[in-house]
Amino acid sequence: MFNKRVAPRNVPKHIGIILDGNGRWATKRGLPRNYGHRKGVEAIFRTIEASLKFGIKYMSVFAFSTENWKRSKEEIDGIFSLVKEFFESEIDKIVTSGVKINFFGDLTAFSEDIREVLYKAVELSKNNNKLTFNMCLNYGGKQDIVQSVNNLISNGKKMITEQDISDNLYSKGMPDLDFVIRTSGEERLSNFMIYQAAYAELYFPKVLWPDFNEKELWKALVVYSKRKRRFGGY
Ligand code: IPE
Ligand code: IPE
Ligand code: MG
Repeated sequence: MFNKRVAPRNVPKHIGIILDGNGRWATKRGLPRNYGHRKGVEAIFRTIEASLKFGIKYMSVFAFSTENWKRSKEEIDGIFSLVKEFFESEIDKIVTSGVKINFFGDLTAFSEDIREVLYKAVELSKNNNKLTFNMCLNYGGKQDIVQSVNNLISNGKKMITEQDISDNLYSKGMPDLDFVIRTSGEERLSNFMIYQAAYAELYFPKVLWPDFNEKELWKALVVYSKRKRRFGGY
């Protein structure tokens, strides 16, 4: 059963991944941190394929937070040139595999050439519906809520409901997160989709993100399938 890695019966509809441990993965091997990020981007594309295989409909990945600007310019530039490189080289494959790509976060912070590649990926994949893949770039959960409320204010709303806020988040129209995985053993959300994760099951495997693969996702799905979700009931 394990070798075939058949997805457990109750696969989460929407899975969130806080990818963490790229830096530690590289440092452990005496390599520059950006090499860890390269392996980390490879792991993202590997995980998209595994998610398709297991029938997950929505996957949101935290790749760069509004707090990550505190890092060195060299590391930040390295991360964005990797993102650009991978979207350029992988886009055809992604589009033919039926994945719809979205970016959550404020993309205006990025240079024109990077934005062009990201918008192109969104445009080319917009009619796909097998798996919706949301990449959070320059994203913060608090910022997501604030921009949602600001939208509502500019539309003249005086009183707002929970549903109004949901309907104006980057994830509008998508189900809330059922399951959040954070790799590397750190046990916090670090401002990742906090509104959407209100009732998510949380899982913190020790594996560092560059080593994440189909087998690790399968193990996570098995853990999820054993959780009892109560939503306040019994
Ligand atoms: C996650 O890996 C990637 C980003 C946050 C951009 P880290 O770069 O945080 O890796 P560690 O936590 O330093 O090992
Ligand atoms: C969270 O990872 C942000 C992303 C995965 C993009 P960090 O490594 O930046 O988080 P902290 O600083 O350990 O909380
Ligand atoms: Mg980290």
